[in-house]
Amino acid sequence: MASPKITVIGLGYLGATHAAAMAELGFEVLGLDVVPEKMRKLEQGQAPMFEPGLEELLRAHVAGVEGSTGRLRFTDSWEELGAFGDVHFLCVNTPQKHGEFACDMSYVERAVDSLAPHLHGPALVVGKSTVPVGSAERLATRIAELAPAGQEAELAWNPEFLRESFAVKDTLHPDRIVVGVGGPRGEALLREVYAQPVAEGTPFLVTDFPTAELVKTAANSFLATKISFINAMAEVCEAAGGDVVKLAEAIGHDDRIGHKFLRAGIGFGGGCLPKDIRAFMARAGELGASEALTFLREVDSINMRRRAQMVELARDALGGVLLGKRIAVLGATFKPDSDDVRDSPALNVAGQLHLQGAQVTVYDPKGMENARAVFPTLGYADSALDAAHGADVVLHLTEWPEFKELDPAALGDVVASRHLLDGRNTLDSALWRKSGWLFRALGRPTA
Ligand code: UDX
Repeated sequence: MASPKITVIGLGYLGATHAAAMAELGFEVLGLDVVPEKMRKLEQGQAPMFEPGLEELLRAHVAGVEGSTGRLRFTDSWEELGAFGDVHFLCVNTPQKHGEFACDMSYVERAVDSLAPHLHGPALVVGKSTVPVGSAERLATRIAELAPAGQEAELAWNPEFLRESFAVKDTLHPDRIVVGVGGPRGEALLREVYAQPVAEGTPFLVTDFPTAELVKTAANSFLATKISFINAMAEVCEAAGGDVVKLAEAIGHDDRIGHKFLRAGIGFGGGCLPKDIRAFMARAGELGASEALTFLREVDSINMRRRAQMVELARDALGGVLLGKRIAVLGATFKPDSDDVRDSPALNVAGQLHLQGAQVTVYDPKGMENARAVFPTLGYADSALDAAHGADVVLHLTEWPEFKELDPAALGDVVASRHLLDGRNTLDSALWRKSGWLFRALGRPTA
């Protein structure tokens, strides 16, 4: 039998990477996104966002790019999409609803309503977006109702665990594949799609719909909890005079705990962890199980308190007054090697300082365009050195590798005051102190 033909609906961080990875695995792929500018970029082999390795993969496969395999194409026609694909991946986003904890399912629902009427024969629709548990069951019924193929249009749920900045690697070499199946063909087709990673040893786990949906929210809740746990320990260290970095290293040597996700700092952000734990709490409430997740409210609060504590540390460094003080902020994205500023702790701290009267100048290696769009009233500079010019205090808020390489003496020559606050606990405090800097960090002793 010929390989299944694949479509990808929604070409953001998840979908663009998934489409390129499917082409890399040898499949014919057709992608669709409702944002025309995104499609135009992709058609030229350009990534719509900064993601290491993605553009190389696109150039290797997008039809029309010189020397490409031509396996990846794009369309704005749902009819063409329905006629082309055997397997349709839903990769649209599920953001937090405005002013509520619950997640906004309207993009997923619109995608299903647009695709299903064009499913005339056997087809598999595969949900990858993060959704509230119970959504898959509802969407499967809707697809069967709307599709001319009826029950032959089947749904499977295959949550995505990729991390931004490692998206290509995580998609081509996932650490597990989870498939919630609702009909007879889902498992077999997805085993074909994922034959290569499975042959390389990736576990393939088959579950029912609710379990597959829950695996994703449970994993993200666990990760968020681990970060907030170490940040809670940072708060205690601040009160007791301990050092959270040493504490994390020491507890991480216990294999059962491990070193990963124990970096204390200004906490987690991005398009996933914050909104996913909130949507999970909202859904548990609807299911009458809210008590099971009350701890996530605390996880969220600890996370937001760290941003506030960073602002207080800056105020303290400036003698209690922010008004008119010059602050250099290094980093705007929610993590390094990404241009994503969604719910970024760094940009949030910069914004709070600005709103309280400080003159804030931000520099980020990749996130400037997105940061400017979200927060146009902040000052922006083209380099760390430019941002630091005349600064009364420098804040390190996203741990880009280039900030580790900064020369404390050179930076010291341009600032008004050698005062550095590390919000990510990745700079070498001894090195900076040796150059005469007053160095302070969250959860660590002052000297
Ligand atoms: C996350 C999950 O890791 C991924 O599996 C899921 O599919 C989507 O959500 P991502 O949002 O790309 O991925 O970033 P991640 O690397 O998990 O970092 C999330 C946030 O936590 C970042 O703001 C990061 O700076 C912060 N973080 C991470 C810490 O503050 N401390 C840590 O020890 C680790």
